Amino acid sequence: MMRPFALGLAMSIALPSLVVAAETAPADVSFADAQVAEPLTEKPGDPAEGRSIFMDRGLGNCLACHVNADLDDQLFHGNVGPEMNGVGERWEPGQLRAIVVNAKQVFGEQTVMPGFYTLDVGVNVAEKYQGKTILTAQQVEDVVAYLETLKGD
Ligand code: HEC
Repeated sequence: MMRPFALGLAMSIALPSLVVAAETAPADVSFADAQVAEPLTEKPGDPAEGRSIFMDRGLGNCLACHVNADLDDQLFHGNVGPEMNGVGERWEPGQLRAIVVNAKQVFGEQTVMPGFYTLDVGVNVAEKYQGKTILTAQQVEDVVAYLETLKGD
């Protein structure tokens, strides 16, 4: 009677890869009260990763618009948007996630902040971003985890 054992073994091997694959697609993100309450991935965000995405000019490029005292070793902080100091106290995690996923959902259509995990990015989209999101679901979670660490001033 080998078969039940073999089946159980096969399932226990298959399951972890299913868990890794579980993430919310851009079109399935649900907003309620300007919040995205549910994390987009099973894996919790990594603040250190989020910090480097924040300053990476090819990824978040958040620094182009936001002064961030935590990154004062970096040059050229833009001041188009508010300073990031204390942002983890001003907003709930679900609100921060909503802002990063699609700032239009929180600030309205006129905001100049890009939507980082939406396909609804407007008309003047560089060709390389058409049909794609700027950040992956995991990168959004990393950035949100990082923003949550920015307390006080
Ligand atoms: C092109 C400029 C631009 C970029 C790039 C940008 N933002 Fe913003 N952001 C804004 C503006 C402007 C606002 C203020 C809301 C408004 O008036 O539209 C804002 C607001 C915010 C807020 C709310 C701050 C507060 O105190 O109210 C957070 C958090 C935020 N941005 C995070 C980010 C992160 C994280 C990134 C990178 C992944 C990023 N932003 C990239 C322009 C930008």
